[in-house]
Amino acid sequence: MADFDTSVLDMARLPQHVAIIMDGNGRWAQRRSMSRVEGHKRGKDSVRAIVEATRKLGIPYLSLFAFSTENWQRPRREVNALMSLLRRYLRTEIERMMHNEVRVLAIGDVSKLPPSVRDELDSAIERTRDNQRLTVGLCVSYGGREDIVNAARALGAEVEAGRLRPQDIDEAAVSRSLGTASMPDPDLLIRTSGEMRISNFYLWQLAYTEIYVTDALWPDFREAQYVEALAHYQQRDRRFGRVAEEAPRSAAQ
Ligand code: FPP
Repeated sequence: MADFDTSVLDMARLPQHVAIIMDGNGRWAQRRSMSRVEGHKRGKDSVRAIVEATRKLGIPYLSLFAFSTENWQRPRREVNALMSLLRRYLRTEIERMMHNEVRVLAIGDVSKLPPSVRDELDSAIERTRDNQRLTVGLCVSYGGREDIVNAARALGAEVEAGRLRPQDIDEAAVSRSLGTASMPDPDLLIRTSGEMRISNFYLWQLAYTEIYVTDALWPDFREAQYVEALAHYQQRDRRFGRVAEEAPRSAAQ
């Protein structure tokens, strides 16, 4: 049971998969004359709060866009700080994840991560692999276009090996070749800090996802703001390109 106010929510109609573009750490810090790294540190506390809240609500999948393929171009100091925050987050949260039955997945090109972060990530993935209450997809060194390119390559290799015919490549085949193969498509995308962009996140996976943009900066995004996002989602009329009477109540995959 959630220990925060969920009275505005219909618990029977929560999304199954929430994806979040966590934006605004830098602005949060700048407004307080702090370094951007301080903003990321506060952002880590929001990550912890939102993972916990997601589990308490009983939502089974959460994706967090933690580091994009483009983020490697940030100043080296900031990249190092983000890597070190990720490593520390995994190290300090692992016991709580085990206790809460949270499974961690890495989505993206983890081969680019520093070995110490990759080791921590591999160990968290391995230790939590049988946990079933909540799956958290950590998108690190992730780019939506790269994900699609990798899927195309994998399918091409299947064709070359004679295991797949080109005419059998369908939407399901592409979906199962993406980094998110083991997750349903997101029902809700939340983006903090007011930007109206997808920023090369889940390009394929967001086809029918409801998008909610809030002005709250990520370090200020906690349980109350999450509940507000979920309440907005519940007011949406999801039609999946059909007319209202025919539309399913949950995600059409
Ligand atoms: C966007 O803020 C945020 C990021 C690029 C990184 C997100 C990282 C965290 C929340 C901390 C660590 C993550 C985990 C999973 C423990 P920004 O820097 O783009 O902000 P700005 O747009 O205001 O500059």
